[in-house]
Amino acid sequence: MTYAVNGAQVDATPEPGQCLRTFLRDAGHVEVKKGCDSGDCGACSVLVDGKAVHSCITPAQRAAGREVTTAAGLGSDGLTQVQESLADHAGFQCGFCTPGMAVTASALTPQDLDDPEAFAKRMRGNLCRCTGYRPIREALTHGICGSGEGCGGCARTLERGAAATTEEAAGVGASVVHSAKDRVVAGREPFTFDEMPADTVHLSVVGSPHAHARIVAIDASAALAMDGVLAVLTHEDAPDVLYSTGRHQHRTDDPDDTRMLDSVVRFIGQRVAVVIAETKRLADLAASAVVVDYEVLPHVLDPEAARAPGSPLLHPKRTPADRVADASRNVVASVHEATGDVEAALAESAATTDGTWSTSRVSHAQLETHGAIAWVADDGRLTVRTSSQVPFLVRDELARVLGWDADRVRVFTARVGGGFGGKQEMFCEDIVALAALAVGRPVAYEMTREEEFTRTSVRHPMRVRVRAGAGSDGRLTALHVDVLSDTGAYGNHAVGVMFHGCHESIAVYRAPVKRLDAEAVYTNNIPSGAFRGYGLGQVIFAIESAMDELALDLGIDPYEMRRLNAVRPGDPFIVAGAPDEDLKFGSFGLDECLDMARDELAGPDDVPAPEGWAVGEGMAASMIATLPPRGHVAVASISVGADGMFHARSGTAEFGNGTTTVHTQIVAEVFGVPRSRVRLTHADTDAVKHDTGAFGSTGIVVAGKALHAACVELREALLASAGHVATDSPVDWGALIPGVDASHRRGDEAWAESFLDQRERSVAFNVQAFRVAVRPDTGEVRILRSVQTADAGVVMNPQQCRGQIEGGVAQGIGSALYEEVMIDERGAVANPAFRQYRVPQMADVPLTHVRFATTSDDLGPYGAKSMSESPYNPVAPALANAIRRAVGVRPMSIPMSRDRVWRMLQA
Ligand code: FES
Repeated sequence: MTYAVNGAQVDATPEPGQCLRTFLRDAGHVEVKKGCDSGDCGACSVLVDGKAVHSCITPAQRAAGREVTTAAGLGSDGLTQVQESLADHAGFQCGFCTPGMAVTASALTPQDLDDPEAFAKRMRGNLCRCTGYRPIREALTHGICGSGEGCGGCARTLERGAAATTEEAAGVGASVVHSAKDRVVAGREPFTFDEMPADTVHLSVVGSPHAHARIVAIDASAALAMDGVLAVLTHEDAPDVLYSTGRHQHRTDDPDDTRMLDSVVRFIGQRVAVVIAETKRLADLAASAVVVDYEVLPHVLDPEAARAPGSPLLHPKRTPADRVADASRNVVASVHEATGDVEAALAESAATTDGTWSTSRVSHAQLETHGAIAWVADDGRLTVRTSSQVPFLVRDELARVLGWDADRVRVFTARVGGGFGGKQEMFCEDIVALAALAVGRPVAYEMTREEEFTRTSVRHPMRVRVRAGAGSDGRLTALHVDVLSDTGAYGNHAVGVMFHGCHESIAVYRAPVKRLDAEAVYTNNIPSGAFRGYGLGQVIFAIESAMDELALDLGIDPYEMRRLNAVRPGDPFIVAGAPDEDLKFGSFGLDECLDMARDELAGPDDVPAPEGWAVGEGMAASMIATLPPRGHVAVASISVGADGMFHARSGTAEFGNGTTTVHTQIVAEVFGVPRSRVRLTHADTDAVKHDTGAFGSTGIVVAGKALHAACVELREALLASAGHVATDSPVDWGALIPGVDASHRRGDEAWAESFLDQRERSVAFNVQAFRVAVRPDTGEVRILRSVQTADAGVVMNPQQCRGQIEGGVAQGIGSALYEEVMIDERGAVANPAFRQYRVPQMADVPLTHVRFATTSDDLGPYGAKSMSESPYNPVAPALANAIRRAVGVRPMSIPMSRDRVWRMLQA
């Protein structure tokens, strides 16, 4: 057929039934992204004869004789005004949704802006998981308006040359955007699958239909007989080595309970076999022809039943040496500790509360699905290009599983399309590596959205009982927290999530008597894993609800209730046993956050309250350590050449967290140079010696701190070489290289490297407040005003940090009000698609007023603290507390969906 794409006539024939998305990508238009393949997310949006469509559900044949326009072709000469606006107004974080957003918005007119609600609904087919939509909405509004009248944003857009000059010169503290912004908005910045080695073949997975079964036999003969099928791999081909998909600096943080391909399957969807074929379509077809004979075993889905006597056992052979606490009870991790006598303290309290809260399974729903490509490079090394937050940890474990030295393996990322903890795992890299070695060709495995829901991980569902007491003055007398965490079929992150979830959530309050009972339990559900907040969100939901109940009972202002009971500088951090000695007060911004939140919430409604609805206000506070415990390692280096160009190298990954933008700001700040003189290499095991990875919000406070130290060292060495003292006038750094000492020379360049194993940790605080309206006859909840105040230390990039907070609040609202991965009675995920699992759309997310405390932290670079995952944590309890105060009944489980709130009101 003949069609035109971005103005060029093309003659090509799609395969029978092929969709327009894959047809365009096969033709090299990788700006057309894949987020769902079911027409729900909009990452694949293109224009067909000027009309925006989801190309994943548009038959390629429909393009015959038509004009197709992708994000890369929207502007006849460069970017459109909408794209420029998205770039200049920080309308993206990971940027995976952005080309599709630009395409859909390009079909709108200034008249579509007249009704903001209708405008948001027009954009509902384009999901963004990162930003919370406010910056996208503003950017699109400015870009579409285009007239220069009224909004003011266009003026900036039209003067982008001048703005770019200012931005380029900006260092620490400036609101600048990633230097790849123009490529991101046009879809030209490559993500994982946007570049592939020649001759790449594809992998498809045969998944288990049973929640628990032993594999008796696998007949792959029909699949292998298909022309173009290269191999079928089963447990007989996989290394007999146990590991965990969860990755940490210390590999012993997770239990060794997983095999690449196992002879026993423990959840529906688990890999049974993989097929490698010339095309993805053929691999899928061949996978359906693999016949597996199973011996079905009894399964258990309820975590309480799983730890009861007589329950089916998932990993009966695992022992504490494998980091499984008690395999005979399906218990992976367990803690029971107390300070004082809780029963006696509760009996003497003026007010007590006792409740059991539960939280749902939540999907990370990052728009770029998991995936990896593996091949043997010309240097003989196994090379893996992957969508990962932790390339170094993946390399190390991959080498261990294969029995190789780590230096025979290279792992790197391109730009990563979101993670939220879900990519702190090794879900794909192991199997593509095995497949590539088996067939001697590059092998790609890109998960479908359904696989994402059924074969990766979810947020740990938890049941949390809280018993708390307080005196008549509001001071806590006792706090008992009892947690049951469902880790699913494997223990990836089970231990860390349970301990962390019960750590800062309890340590934030100084009750004199505390008790903690917590267990993480195997079930035959989909595995749980790392998720933004790392367990804190679940436990904080319960504790902050209990704190609110006590405040109501005693007639104490909820902000004062927190101020009265929270730890403050000089206090020890006590969960329920010995104080945590590696946690410090590098700064303390809770009081300021509480004051600002109360003041800001007093402002007017952003959305008017409908008549007849019950209105209430609620708040919640949270504390978080600024990095994970027991060391987070970063190696960073900086070099400068004779041309004055700087090259910074770090191992941390960029997946929308903004780390790499701040890294360029640090270099620009230390050397007083424009950011355009800074080149970055990151997330590549060849770049530096090691980096623990991008999780726990460490990209700035660890990797950034290491880079800062390297920059300072190089700066001193360069200045010393010329006998200089630092001045305010610009320095020609390249000219100083000949005099620099030998230890700072690498060939023609001056160079410095810093190794940082950051162990001391500070604490940061967030306070979330809502005013909500609840419709009594339906249970519908509407947010009238939303406020979050954040103790982020010195804010390195206010625009970017605000975006992290807004995105965290939006994700928090989704999981608080409607997101839930549901499991049917067989143990299968019942809603493995965005159409059934509702991710917040633009029209769903209210404006959140963000304010920062004015702290400066002793431990972070330039006084900064981490602020990416913590904004999520207080959202659900603040909403629950607002609903409670509106209707007089307390929500005990999330999501607080309309039907659940309605049932609560009826009860
Ligand atoms: Fe929208 Fe990441 S920026 S999904």
